[in-house]
Amino acid sequence: MPTYRRTDLRFVRGDGAWLHTEAGEQYLDFGSGIAVNTLGHAHPRLVAALKEQAEKLWHVSNLYDIPGQEALARRLCAASFAELVFFCNSGSEAAEGMIKAMRKFHAAQGQSERVTLIGFAGAFHGRTLAALAAAGNQDYLAGFGPTPDGFVQCPDFTMAALEPLIDDTTAGILIEPVQGEGGVRAVPSGFLAALRALCDAKGLLLGFDEVQCGVGRTGKLFAHEWAGVTPDVMAIAKGIGGGFPLGAILTTSAVGACMQPGSHGSTYGGNPLAMAVGLEIMEVVCAPGFLDDVNDMAGYLRQQLSARIDKYPEIFTELRGVGLMVGLKCACENTRLVAALRAEKLLSVPAGDNTVRLLPPLNIAQDDMRAALDAIDRACARLHADIVGDT
Ligand SMILES: Cc1ncc(COP(=O)(O)O)c(C=O)c1O
Repeated sequence: MPTYRRTDLRFVRGDGAWLHTEAGEQYLDFGSGIAVNTLGHAHPRLVAALKEQAEKLWHVSNLYDIPGQEALARRLCAASFAELVFFCNSGSEAAEGMIKAMRKFHAAQGQSERVTLIGFAGAFHGRTLAALAAAGNQDYLAGFGPTPDGFVQCPDFTMAALEPLIDDTTAGILIEPVQGEGGVRAVPSGFLAALRALCDAKGLLLGFDEVQCGVGRTGKLFAHEWAGVTPDVMAIAKGIGGGFPLGAILTTSAVGACMQPGSHGSTYGGNPLAMAVGLEIMEVVCAPGFLDDVNDMAGYLRQQLSARIDKYPEIFTELRGVGLMVGLKCACENTRLVAALRAEKLLSVPAGDNTVRLLPPLNIAQDDMRAALDAIDRACARLHADIVGDT
């Protein structure tokens, strides 16, 4: 189906931060498959883990215990607030399952009227109908029939806007600690803390969508750690699979225990191949020093980008995001910047609010970072000349 506006680049091989085309050109990948390739392409440890598992067992279904699921769930729980985990295959599924768990929790307490999830303007939770309804972006809902009930959106990150939306039907609050698709907008830490306090006071659940900002992307294992608050439920995907389709719902035991046999499921969710890769990602990302290096590289990149933003006010207006989840809000059209960077063999990803995302692999090498900055300089010089020529 013609669902994507694709660029006519055909990559056939990747190594580290580099992608190679059919035609023999190489590109520096600062898109990472939209925040997926945590360790770049063809990381030897991920390749070895996948190969080893591929020779043993691919799939058995959730009719049976899968040892890798127990191992990865234990790893995720040990490193987070979570006590129970459900594995699925994508971010949308994780978000959808999170919504179901949040509603089921209240139903199990005899409060089945509590179904409404409060989301936020600019959010993105995926393309299933409930995930679309939670984000409330009418452009994505148009033409797909009735929108599922039980979702409202708060227009901004303030208590003044949020509190009037809460009523007896409210089940909880759903938020990305750093909005990705919406324009790399970090939610103020104080607001996340206020949400936690509000949820505790009113018996609501707090659900974080860390599908894009989780698994080390912001320099902490999970972005909410920067705010010092924990959710009741969290959706992750993208980075936890490093390129292998994998998602998960992480919950407290109080929430997860409501999902009894029959209440949810997935044929492929948590299959042995995905578990082997997810476990290896966690081993690498949680190894001592790994996230320190992410923060060092992020600090360097941000400092360097700030200088370019000052130099080219006709191209950039603002540096956004946290860690290696970088957003460049543009003064020119964001697609123009993406194209200029691509012409200099640097891949980036457009986002909402006229923003461009830079999402390098978390293990990006210093030389590759410098190569990216050189490409940015060349693209900016070219774009500057074009823009000046336009006026
Ligand atoms: C925050 C967030 N949630 C959910 C999703 C949906 O993930 P997927 O495309 O894997 O279904 C995305 C994808 O971009 C995302 O950024």
